[in-house]
Amino acid sequence: MIMNEQELVVQALLPVLKDHLDAAAIAKLIEVPKTSDLGDYAFPTFTLAKIFRQAPQQIAADLAPKINADNFEKVQAVGPYINFFLDKAQFSHQLLQTILQQAEHYGDANLGQQGQVPIDMSSPNIAKPISMGHLRSTVIGNSLANILTKVGYKPVKINHLGDWGTQFGKLIVGYKKWGSEAAVKADPITNLLKYYVKFHQEDQAHPELDDEARDWFVKLEAGDDEAIKLWTWFRKVSLQEFMKIYDMLDIQFDSYKGEAFYNDKMAEVVQMLEDKKLLKKSQGAEIVDLSAYNLNPALIKKSDGATLYITRDLAAAIYRKRTYHFVQSLYVVGNEQRDHFKQLKAVLKEMGFDWADDIHHIPFGLITENGKKLSTRQGRVILLENVLNDAVDLAHKQIDAKNPDLANKDQVANDVGIGAVVFHDLKNERLNNFDFNLEDVVRFEGETGPYVQYTNARAQSILRKAGVDLKQQTDYTLADRSAWDVLKQLAEFPDMIIRASKEYEPSVIAKYALRLAKNFNKYYANTKVLVADAEKPARLAMVASVSQVLTQSLALLGVHAPKEM
Ligand code: ARG
Repeated sequence: MIMNEQELVVQALLPVLKDHLDAAAIAKLIEVPKTSDLGDYAFPTFTLAKIFRQAPQQIAADLAPKINADNFEKVQAVGPYINFFLDKAQFSHQLLQTILQQAEHYGDANLGQQGQVPIDMSSPNIAKPISMGHLRSTVIGNSLANILTKVGYKPVKINHLGDWGTQFGKLIVGYKKWGSEAAVKADPITNLLKYYVKFHQEDQAHPELDDEARDWFVKLEAGDDEAIKLWTWFRKVSLQEFMKIYDMLDIQFDSYKGEAFYNDKMAEVVQMLEDKKLLKKSQGAEIVDLSAYNLNPALIKKSDGATLYITRDLAAAIYRKRTYHFVQSLYVVGNEQRDHFKQLKAVLKEMGFDWADDIHHIPFGLITENGKKLSTRQGRVILLENVLNDAVDLAHKQIDAKNPDLANKDQVANDVGIGAVVFHDLKNERLNNFDFNLEDVVRFEGETGPYVQYTNARAQSILRKAGVDLKQQTDYTLADRSAWDVLKQLAEFPDMIIRASKEYEPSVIAKYALRLAKNFNKYYANTKVLVADAEKPARLAMVASVSQVLTQSLALLGVHAPKEM
């Protein structure tokens, strides 16, 4: 293990300050200077001025010479600060040795202690296209699952399919009136959506359609053969379409239990609510009053007896607690459902479930086009599969231009194109809206996934050229100043993972990878890595470490890292 460098600073300060501050208080005061010529850590003396009754400058000047500097290159007073410079030789050796030894386990932590964490993610609606919002939920959820695994949790990826509700009555009517088996087979989602849209156009003039739809939904709920057969088929062909996208993204789920799964589990929930005297009648419907939480009432049962979205979510939350004994339960769902999840938690809380506090809605912003919300008009969002295909084509073109003889060109273009779309989504803080412009997303330069992938491939090519076996090496001392920024950043990786896991924020990892790639490219442009001198093996160890950490970062985001491109 690497020592925690900041802890070294605390331990150095403690003997001279122990009468006034304890270790925790010292740790809180330590800063990281903006530029490394001011040291790697700085201790400001302002807070000591009152205790010592002296000017901060004076305190810094008096204390600095009393500090044991064994573990440092130097310890120096500059104005009101005491600056600490880490011992580069010792630091580089320990760090590079650790990274190469731990390989893909570098940065592993055990915050989660194997506790299970269901992640409700993707969750598109049957017979409708996957929207950009569902794409965001899918890639954010997948990345969070990777990050949580890395810090010791056991995520369970759940696709809570929207596969039940009155819309299925309309869909059956639409299909029977205007549809055909052949059309659905040929292009399921496009055509199912068409019937649904047509239903809504026609029912204005023909209100009897609504009665038919209601009848069909009643039949469906009652388990009528024909209704169930159609519903099962619609669900199956829709899921097959969704799978194409999940396969392209290389994302797998642990469960596809959607809303319908909870059909036979809702009576119990309603009963529990009744027993706890939480249900109130309101205009024929059953509600839970949430005014104490400053929330609108939760509508549990409609006047016709039909249960609702939130009722299913209550049943699902309870089912997940019983099944997984979760330590946290996450819902990666757009920001527009914020109130729904507040209500869900509040009702569970009212029911006496303390674990409601372990439920976290993980909201995210919108994908925009020139700053405007992507229109959800019919056909618009079906483009998702096309978006991914276009991204792969664009990647292909760039590889053809840059590296026409590359082996596995198709596979690499796939990794680069899809990776570009995923990376672009994840590099933005999840709550921010962001613009999507394919050309920008797939560029090999700038703040893109392909840039990080390209940097990794470059590191790999350096290692191939060098052709040395790093495992034979015993000395990783790299005291060269120009490597310092890269080394320090490599050391930050474990902290970044922990931060990303606590904030549920994959962008922490994406931004880190961009910074590391940029720093490494700067280093590489100014340093002859392959020159045969005493530090050559250590330089190569650093190149290998950079590649390893970039590959790991991309893997945490769900992006592949080709070795050549
Ligand atoms: N199917 C819903 C939609 O597309 C998302 C479901 C989110 N998950 C949940 N447990 N409510 O809006």
